[in-house]
Amino acid sequence: MKFKRTHTCAGLSLEDVGKEVVIQGWVDNMRDHGGVIFIDLGDRYGTTQIVFDPDLTKEGHELANSFRNQYVISVKGKVEKRPDGQANEKMSTGDIELYASEVELLNKSVTPPYDLQSIDKINEEVRLKNRFFDLRSRKLRDNMIFRDKATAIIRNFFHENDFIDVETPILTKATPEGARDYVVPSRVHQGQFFALPQSPQLFKQSLMISGFDRYIQIARCFRDEDLRADRQPEFTQVDLEMSFVDREDVMEIIESLFRRLFKEMMGIDLPEKFPRLTYQEAMQKYGNDRPDLRFGLEIVDLGDIFKNTEFGVFKNVLGSGGLVRGINLKGASPKLSRRDLDDMTPFAKQFKAKGVAWIRMNEDGPQSPIIKFFSDEEQKSLYETMNAETDDVLIFVADTKKVCLQSLSELRLLMGDKLGLINENEFNFSWVIDFPMFDKSATGEPTPCHHPFTAPIDEHTDKMEEDPFAVLTNAYDIILNGVEVGGGSVRIHNQDVQKRVFKMLGISNEEAADKFGFLLDALQAGAPPHAGLALGLDRLIMLMLKLDSIRDVIAFPKTQKATCLMTEAPGSIPESQMEELALESTVEDED
Ligand code: AMO
Ligand code: AMP
Repeated sequence: MKFKRTHTCAGLSLEDVGKEVVIQGWVDNMRDHGGVIFIDLGDRYGTTQIVFDPDLTKEGHELANSFRNQYVISVKGKVEKRPDGQANEKMSTGDIELYASEVELLNKSVTPPYDLQSIDKINEEVRLKNRFFDLRSRKLRDNMIFRDKATAIIRNFFHENDFIDVETPILTKATPEGARDYVVPSRVHQGQFFALPQSPQLFKQSLMISGFDRYIQIARCFRDEDLRADRQPEFTQVDLEMSFVDREDVMEIIESLFRRLFKEMMGIDLPEKFPRLTYQEAMQKYGNDRPDLRFGLEIVDLGDIFKNTEFGVFKNVLGSGGLVRGINLKGASPKLSRRDLDDMTPFAKQFKAKGVAWIRMNEDGPQSPIIKFFSDEEQKSLYETMNAETDDVLIFVADTKKVCLQSLSELRLLMGDKLGLINENEFNFSWVIDFPMFDKSATGEPTPCHHPFTAPIDEHTDKMEEDPFAVLTNAYDIILNGVEVGGGSVRIHNQDVQKRVFKMLGISNEEAADKFGFLLDALQAGAPPHAGLALGLDRLIMLMLKLDSIRDVIAFPKTQKATCLMTEAPGSIPESQMEELALESTVEDED
């Protein structure tokens, strides 16, 4: 490099007019205006317009003529004010331009496979394969910068509040969070495997027992699970744990973190306290445990109204222990065509619903394919219970509990969107609390609703064995606009209770000793009461930036099929390495 960089491509302004400077970066855009070449030179910070005038530098102008998009160059020149009327308000450097006196080509570039400033139109696979180019796009660059700033605020916040940042192992043992483990074979101990952590859960609890009463880590977690737009096989948590606290302390610190973060990043004032719903309330009113509270459209239970109904579909479902529930799409009738109503059925079928019934509340009376099956009394109480008025549309699903709730919760979101009830600019936080201790597996066995280290509430600890599904915990999830951005709980700090939970989950003493022996030992070593939570950092940043995909806030994300297209990971390893690890593949070689 002939010259040393004096400024970045965003670093020059009117104050620098007349100065001799050096900037370096990538050719973003080139225009030849009657012999004078203009180049927008870009870097991570911004863009500066360079002028190559053959009268000032014949050599430089000739060289510039050979430049192509994304060549990386170094330019020495004089900063000039742009002629009147030619300032560009869209650029932070739009008042000035740099008249090149000398220029050096630092490196050529192949032509990018697509226009880096229109990445939204490009197939994502192509983008991920060319991520080194892709990250040069303004959109991704800005996302990365935003993420960095937010992360710095989060770290500072916790440090100011006496949290200590401790790194926990990546090569470890299984940490159950409900997904499959990624495993790493050991060479030294052939036939044995490390697991990558699904979260630092057991380490942070161990740290509490060691006396680090406030812990934070921006931690990488690994989960081999089905991927969606808001899930990655490796992702980042803001992981924290506190001793000598109850759930209120954890919730308070998180509310205070979010107030600081939203204020500093976006100038948004969040409320002092976020609304709370119990798990039961959330399931009842919204059909899921991460309700989007930006709009109403609550679900209404109609089981009582139809308990003696002659309408076959409802009768059968209620007779076999299922649910009949509905939603009043308030004032929606003029906005929904017959087609919109009929389309709800195929939509709900994705969630295994058998159908969606509807009633339009017309001015001249209700209209519906099913109303003829309802008695006058049923109709009357239905309209009363659902607060039905002219122009409303009532929709119903009758099915097993799971299917009914899921279908209605998805229909609620679909209709909320279709009816324009969702304010895209709102950031609506809420807590869901009082989760049950156990969910029922397909075979009726208890499985952890959160993870097996969550404590039952004191009053319910005794009835864990007799009445497991009635036991509640002090677990809490934090929801932003219908997305779970974090979750945590008060933990078990008593070895006996922990052993009883393992037993309830069908984990034998031997298995417990093998998998969690160290935790059981540690719980006998003066474990203080403790509680914590982990935020999904990627999801949070995605929501703050109003993006749909978590991949747009991760520098090198994996595809929905859990591969990295840039590095082509995962890949096979040489036979010699397989032998060293005592591994044998049962998969036939593809070539
Ligand atoms: P949990 O499993 O709820 O809790 O994870 C905490 C948060 O991490 C985010 N998250 C994910 N983000 C992206 N991709 C994924 N595959 C993914 N999985 C989870 C979610 C979620 O709310 N150890 C406990 C926390 C605790 O109890 O303290 C835990 O990991 O936003
Ligand atoms: P059918 O008797 O199948 O013709 O259905 C009559 C009406 O009830 C149609 O509008 C269906 O969409 C609706 N329907 C059918 N099954 C269900 C169900 N399980 N829950 C709610 N509506 C249903």
